[in-house]
Amino acid sequence: MSQRSVVTIERHIIEAERQFPEATGAFSNIMYDIAFAAKMIAREVRRAGLADVLGYTGEVNVQGEEVKKLDEFAHEVIFKALDHTGHLCGMASEEVEDFIPIPDRFPTGKYCVLFDPLDGSSNIEANVSVGTIFSVHRKISDHERGCAEDCLQPGYKQVAAGYVVYGSSTMLVYTTGNGVHGFTLEPSIGEFLLSHPNIRIPEKGQRIYSVNEGNYNKWSPEQRALVDHLKGADGQNPRPFSARYIGSLVADFHRNLLYGGFFMYPADHKNRNGKLRLLYEAAPLAMIAEQAGGRASDGFRKINDIVPDSLHQRTPLYIGTREHVELAEQFLAGGRVGAEALSIEAVAAGV
Ligand code: AHG
Ligand code: MN
Ligand code: MN
Repeated sequence: MSQRSVVTIERHIIEAERQFPEATGAFSNIMYDIAFAAKMIAREVRRAGLADVLGYTGEVNVQGEEVKKLDEFAHEVIFKALDHTGHLCGMASEEVEDFIPIPDRFPTGKYCVLFDPLDGSSNIEANVSVGTIFSVHRKISDHERGCAEDCLQPGYKQVAAGYVVYGSSTMLVYTTGNGVHGFTLEPSIGEFLLSHPNIRIPEKGQRIYSVNEGNYNKWSPEQRALVDHLKGADGQNPRPFSARYIGSLVADFHRNLLYGGFFMYPADHKNRNGKLRLLYEAAPLAMIAEQAGGRASDGFRKINDIVPDSLHQRTPLYIGTREHVELAEQFLAGGRVGAEALSIEAVAAGV
């Protein structure tokens, strides 16, 4: 029996870079540094029940939420893995209000990295999967050492995006615009090995919807009609969807990417732009979804067409299997509220 060749993340990145003879290696180094930070965070997440890293710090982050120590740890690890390399002109993090400059003692470079250091942190104490999300942009400002403008770019300009899920194993999934590739951490040797090459979200995969349905009474009539339809409660859906909601965006997204289905965090009458952050959560996952053949929308337009005007801007999010996200868009546009909801089932019935 022949053995598949083992491809480390380093090898994968080097081989991808070879296709660009003009590449300086800067970008590859950023990807290694992120993978290194992910290993450090994975180690700490694994020890979360043992080490004295649990509990609230008592501080409140810029989103007005309580910050756990592991969020701060993850933020520090990523910042320190990237601050001194000379490849970045700055960073932005969900945990920090403003653009994060590179310390004066270090050189700067032509990229910036945006990240959600620990996503789903309210789940840590229950031993539920958490994640890290990252996005890489090219420097565009004239400012010698970078500025917020470099981070305030629409998602379609990302040069890379990815996430790490700290689950039953640790996986890093990334794209540089040439497909989506997943690596699983082999803990005994500390290497990410290619385990999921060329991930495609299954077009006829599982019919899963992921949403915090406890917010139902705060939703618009269109959003309620959508969820009623998914469940078959409108009498128009002979093949109701299954509901799966972990409450960790990365983990919910990852499952749907592999199995099919879609995740949504809608606007509601209290939070007109939903909850999730455009730059740290929605845009990078949107690049992954699109590269895997899926779709990401705020309900009306593609996530990655949105031009941000602030670092912590929020957006409603519908992301996953293209057909499911398009169905949501039809409902939100008002076109499917009422009697003749059908086509996704009609199509499916004909398969
Ligand atoms: P974070 O831990 O980075 O603040 O993100 C939490 C997010 C996301 O992971 C998840 O999908 C969502 O919050 C869950 O929100 P609800 O508890 O409102 O369902
Ligand atoms: Mn998050
Ligand atoms: Mn977070």
